[in-house]
Amino acid sequence: MVSLTRHIFEQQCFQPDGAEEFFTIMNRIVSGGKRIARDLRQAGLTDGLGLTDTRNVHGEQVRHMDARANELFVEAFQDSGIVQLVVSEEMEEPFPVAAAKETGKYAVFFDPLDGSSNIDVNAPLGSIFSIHCLDPNGRFLKPGCEQVASGYLLYGTGTILVYTCGAGVHQFTLDPVVGEFFLSALNVQIPARGKIYSVNEGNRYKWSKNMIKVIDYFHENDKETGRPYAARYTGCLVADVHRILLKGGLYLYPGEVRKPEGKLRLMYEAAPLSFVVEQAGGLGSTGVERISTIHPKTPHQCVPLIIGSREDVETTEQFLSRK
Ligand code: AHG
Ligand code: MN
Ligand code: MN
Repeated sequence: MVSLTRHIFEQQCFQPDGAEEFFTIMNRIVSGGKRIARDLRQAGLTDGLGLTDTRNVHGEQVRHMDARANELFVEAFQDSGIVQLVVSEEMEEPFPVAAAKETGKYAVFFDPLDGSSNIDVNAPLGSIFSIHCLDPNGRFLKPGCEQVASGYLLYGTGTILVYTCGAGVHQFTLDPVVGEFFLSALNVQIPARGKIYSVNEGNRYKWSKNMIKVIDYFHENDKETGRPYAARYTGCLVADVHRILLKGGLYLYPGEVRKPEGKLRLMYEAAPLSFVVEQAGGLGSTGVERISTIHPKTPHQCVPLIIGSREDVETTEQFLSRK
């Protein structure tokens, strides 16, 4: 049994002081994640379900557990000494960690709770994280290809953590009795092509003609290419992308004719998940460009997301680039 702590400590992809810093940041994420997993398990007994009366920067009504998960992650970084900035879906402005004003070298981006409409129905949820180094001038908005590490926790039948620091993708499962994550899959590889597509088809009337053709293509019957693909959609990006990571296929949240930027957020959804999927051999794309090369303009900007098996994403890109 290899614990996450030991695995991270043995990662070779950092310089000596970088390794220790990475260890510290990951431990904070893990402690926040474990507390979120605990609170989710008890949410039905502790008034943790339902909505608050506030809206976040995206205009979405915040749920009690969104707010709680955000609090837990912010708290986890209060005294790390090296994380200077926490950026979250649930905070309009980047949060400067006072204790790390001088010493902080890192910014951490979070979707504290992903798929939060699943809370009330006991369906899967996740947390997504992305770690960036701050530039000497304090610049923190950087393209995905400059991430130090990224990953997610998935609160499903079990709690798992998947991460990459640019040296493969590794999965850990929480032993709830011991309270520690242990390695459950080393060097995860995504199949080059899958049999599953994952999209909210209720939005079909909002899509471009080319996007409709993409989904029609995956519906067609063709034995040679394994079509039709099966549809799977949980409403939790982390859960849907995790299925695709392990089984192959593609997840799509495309742009819409009236909202070309789509719904998902670059810095704490699309970029970190694309880093994971690309490290496993897949692709993350907007349909016309790689997610990892987009230069962000704002912390909360949205992008279309087509992510998964390399061949499936490339097929989609071919449809979307047609005139
Ligand atoms: P969040 O709960 O962090 O706001 O994210 C919700 C996201 C994502 O988890 C999911 O894939 C997608 O929104 C679902 O959106 P639709 O309900 O529009 O399909
Ligand atoms: Mn989300
Ligand atoms: Mn969220």
